[in-house]
Amino acid sequence: MFRWSISLLLLTSVGHSAQQVIGPRGNSSKPQTDWIWNQLHCWEGVSEPKQIGKIHSVWHEEGKTKYHLEGEGVGTIFKVDPNTGDIGVYRELDREKKDRYTLQGIVINKTTLMQVGTSTKFNIQVLDVNDNAPIFTKDPFNGTVAEMSSKGTSVLTIIAHDPDDPTVDKHAKVTYKILSKQDNFYINAMTGTINVNNPNLDRERKKDYQLIVQAKDMGLDQGGRSSSATVHISLTDINDNVPFFQHKQYNYSALESIPLGAAIGRVKAEDLDEGENAKILYTIERNSMFQIITDPRTQEGVITLKKPLDFETQQLHRVGIEAENPTPVKGKRYKTRTTLVIKVLDVDEPPVFSQSRYIFSVAENQHDATPVGRVSASDPDRTKDPIRYSLSTGMDLFKIDVDGMIYTRKQLDREAFFWHNITVAASEMNKSNSISYTNVAIRVLDQNDNAPTLADNYYPHVCEDDPFGTVIQNISAVDKDEITPDVKFFFSIPLKTSNFSVKNDGNRSASIMVNQVDFNQNEVSKFSIPIVISDNGTPRLSSNTTLEISVCSCDRDRNPINCSHFAALNSGVTVTTLLIIFLCIIVTTILAVLIVRWKVQRQSAFGRLVNIPGEIREQLVKYDEEGGGEMDTNSFDITMLNSLRTKGVQPLKMTDCAPVYAQVRKPDNDMGSVVQMKKDEADGDRDGLPYDTLHIYGYEGSESVADSLSSLDVSSVDSEQDYDFLNDWGPRFQMLAELYGSDPYREGLGY
Ligand SMILES: *[C@@H]1O[C@H](CO)[C@@H](O)[C@H](O)[C@H]1NC(C)=O
Ligand SMILES: *[C@@H]1O[C@H](CO)[C@@H](O)[C@H](O)[C@H]1NC(C)=O
Ligand SMILES: *[C@@H]1O[C@H](CO)[C@@H](O)[C@H](O)[C@H]1NC(C)=O
Repeated sequence: MFRWSISLLLLTSVGHSAQQVIGPRGNSSKPQTDWIWNQLHCWEGVSEPKQIGKIHSVWHEEGKTKYHLEGEGVGTIFKVDPNTGDIGVYRELDREKKDRYTLQGIVINKTTLMQVGTSTKFNIQVLDVNDNAPIFTKDPFNGTVAEMSSKGTSVLTIIAHDPDDPTVDKHAKVTYKILSKQDNFYINAMTGTINVNNPNLDRERKKDYQLIVQAKDMGLDQGGRSSSATVHISLTDINDNVPFFQHKQYNYSALESIPLGAAIGRVKAEDLDEGENAKILYTIERNSMFQIITDPRTQEGVITLKKPLDFETQQLHRVGIEAENPTPVKGKRYKTRTTLVIKVLDVDEPPVFSQSRYIFSVAENQHDATPVGRVSASDPDRTKDPIRYSLSTGMDLFKIDVDGMIYTRKQLDREAFFWHNITVAASEMNKSNSISYTNVAIRVLDQNDNAPTLADNYYPHVCEDDPFGTVIQNISAVDKDEITPDVKFFFSIPLKTSNFSVKNDGNRSASIMVNQVDFNQNEVSKFSIPIVISDNGTPRLSSNTTLEISVCSCDRDRNPINCSHFAALNSGVTVTTLLIIFLCIIVTTILAVLIVRWKVQRQSAFGRLVNIPGEIREQLVKYDEEGGGEMDTNSFDITMLNSLRTKGVQPLKMTDCAPVYAQVRKPDNDMGSVVQMKKDEADGDRDGLPYDTLHIYGYEGSESVADSLSSLDVSSVDSEQDYDFLNDWGPRFQMLAELYGSDPYREGLGY
């Protein structure tokens, strides 16, 4: 209704006043117009077809020509009456999409369809209707403001835009207002800025606020179009709360055995603030056995142990602690206090030795059960259980009694071990699981129980022309006993008269000097000088040694040239030793030779087989083949083989075999008949190897009067045995006879 009333009003005004004259033609004194039309408007949002005005051209002739339009929307949105020039709008327009259309008007000859006269351009203006509400740039809006902000502090500005034509009335004039019922915030209706109204907004009571805001056009007038949006406002924290402990006292308990640095418990001071403002700094009173540090994750105070706890000294610890914010609260520092009560719990602790290690000493060579030293341990617990001692190591040399006194079990020898480091265990009676150990180092003290001896084997010589006082040897001595700087040795020659004297240098060495002149190695080749070496210990101990001095002829530098005694002595090897070594070498060599010979004899049978000379290898019958076969009448008499085979399964008797060997002339001696018998036996043995197999015997034994039976062995060069009789043994031994018998060819080779 409203829209149509406006539209009617405008139509009347357009009809009367909005005459426009366009396109002057000809000279200005006589204005002529080709086209006349009203100012053309159209309201947006009108859905029914509507006449908006008409165009008129001087070129139009009723019946002959017609009006025609060109341009955007012609034919669909806009249509023209061809005869009257009335323009109608047939579609609903939206000014917010397009607020002006430019069209062209033409006159066309109906018959020729050609344009007549000039054309014209004109605009159709779309007029605004308040058909849009303001649109918020966001929904929701988020804003933050610190808690306790003063009245008027701005929080955020909300913005909404109206797409309608801002030039038309107040169609796009937006005003704002908060729809929610509240009085914490207010809004500037013109600018949209939201401000704090209540200066006592407390984040710890309520953190988030939600407002519904409205944007409306038509300014402050009644009516208009509106939309709404949500505004979230969060309060940010300020440090307006001090930390506090919820209890006046916190109780903990800890075993007395816990290690230093171990955590005993946690305490927390509450702070209603958050983040940086809720950080807590804990302090503990001075000289406490405990420490407190802040766990940065939870802001809890962690109580740790600084000095060891001991149930037996103090069972309850009371400690005051304080907590504060590191940043001031409203410009001031506040501290809050509480008390920690820590109860120490008893732990059954193992015995404690009075020292972490003991060092004792005891003299060597003492009778057994000599006291060495005493260890002591005690039960640190209140029960004060009696302690039992025992040795963990060193039981073979030491023992310990109930009071912790250590005794020797046997005599000690410093020269064998001068430290005995043993372990002593202490345990509480009736409790096997609480044991402590300590190290006891026992040093064995020296006694003078070893006499000094010469440090080396000396082989001095005196030259025949050595003058009086010549030092021919420096000697020194050693002693297994402990050598301290105070230890001194004395060397002497226990003879009334001697050709040599000894000069002590005061420490542990001395010089042997010549006492007379003109030695002659042909008279005396060596001197044996007794030397006594004694130490200065208590008791004084001494040893006797003999020094052998060779007499030599020397060059000018006292180097020996010829000493009858010297050579053997100098090398340290006596003639007897040399003789023994020599004998040993001879015996070993003989043994080696014998063993080698025996071995060679054992292996000779195989050795020969492998080393058969080339020219006889072809004729040798190997035991893994049958030989030349029936055609080879040289090696075999096949009739004899057949005669044996045809006997078949019947057991052979000695007599059956007789014809086979009838032609063989037996050797004259007895051994020959024995051999013959053995051969017959072998031939009759059906369990043995076949007749034509070559038998090889690895070992034939020894001590045989008949010499070797082996036909292979006889090729050795030194064998002069005569094998000519083999020729007489018939064709079967022909090959052996060829090999070993006296054969002109073989002799020619010089065997
Ligand atoms: C505004 O705050 C709400 C809830 O407080 C949140 O879900 C949303 O993501 C926030 N939006 C922006 C743009 O920060
Ligand atoms: C024994 O203990 C002593 C003293 O601590 C030390 O000097 C020595 O080297 C130790 N001996 C052995 C074998 O551990
Ligand atoms: C000293 O040496 C000479 C030979 O040079 C010898 O006859 C004499 O017995 C030696 N004296 C002693 C005490 O050995």
